[in-house]
Amino acid sequence: MITTVQQHILREQQALPEAQGTFSWLLSGITLATKMIQARVRRAGLEDVLGAMGETNVQGEEQQKLDVFANQALLDSLSVRDGVAILVSEENEEPVMFDRAKDTGRYVIFFDPLDGSSNIDVNVSVGTIFSIYRRPEGLENDAPGAVLQPGYKQVAAGYVVYGSSAILVYTAGRGVYGFTLDPSIGAYVLSYDNMKMPAQGKYYSVNEANADAFPAAYREYLAQLRRGDLGKEYSSRYVGSLVADFHRTLLKGGVFLYPPTKSHPGGKLRLMYEANPLAFIAEQAGGMATNGRERILDLQPNSIHQRTPFVIGSKVEMEAFARRTEAVEANADVWAPAI
Ligand code: AHG
Ligand code: MN
Ligand code: MN
Repeated sequence: MITTVQQHILREQQALPEAQGTFSWLLSGITLATKMIQARVRRAGLEDVLGAMGETNVQGEEQQKLDVFANQALLDSLSVRDGVAILVSEENEEPVMFDRAKDTGRYVIFFDPLDGSSNIDVNVSVGTIFSIYRRPEGLENDAPGAVLQPGYKQVAAGYVVYGSSAILVYTAGRGVYGFTLDPSIGAYVLSYDNMKMPAQGKYYSVNEANADAFPAAYREYLAQLRRGDLGKEYSSRYVGSLVADFHRTLLKGGVFLYPPTKSHPGGKLRLMYEANPLAFIAEQAGGMATNGRERILDLQPNSIHQRTPFVIGSKVEMEAFARRTEAVEANADVWAPAI
């Protein structure tokens, strides 16, 4: 007996008293868009979707054609759902706002339409990340407070990793569930029921090319892992697509870090549509996520595209990181990059 993601969401939304079907209708918009994206990812290179569009996005990064397609698929499938009040995309400088009747437009959705886009033309896994908030009562869409909400206010979050198969992982605050797209029926089918991150893993995941610029606490922590201080031999894994690196960490345990670097002293990953959704999932699965000092979900955002240092993973590795930063912070100014 299979359980599709639609059936699962309907069951979940019974726990969201005010949902009345809009919530599952929203999520069906996201799953539809990801099916269109994965179909395109599967054909990358055949329909000349490879190569940059030549334009650059708000992040100043070259836009790959698939980025544009993925963004359009999500905008199109979500804008026709009247539960959506506001959409915020990595690819759009400003929020997209919809003028809805008072009691319908109740949700704000953030998304990274294509994560790991630098990996598209080398056939490495990429993904889509989304994060859903309620639109605060009594606020107009263009009120900053409508979009600048801390991560602990998310009502749902998830991602799809377009890998050897397309896997959707989501939480609505009552556990983490994984679904594998069955192309023969075009449905996401439950494949991981109530996912829990192992208490400790054996992988750490960081872009070592930036290591000389990491603050001392990060460098000392990584040396600690390599020395076996946590009682395990660690191996290094870094795909360069956050969704793929996180998905492995969720399944196998361990820790992923994107520290402050020379080119990104405030971190490279974006708080609202990369760090917050994955932090929500990690905590629901028994893991933790910080910006190196504070819990990601507690951070009060001040802009929709702001970046943050990001450390996310299993309990044992995350607690060891916190101890390490406390120890090093007590003795020196650890937060200035080494060079
Ligand atoms: P995006 O493609 O959405 O811009 O995200 C890319 C991010 C993330 O997926 C990955 O973890 C990180 O960039 C890799 O950055 P480096 O190449 O600097 O390591
Ligand atoms: Mn991304
Ligand atoms: Mn992206």
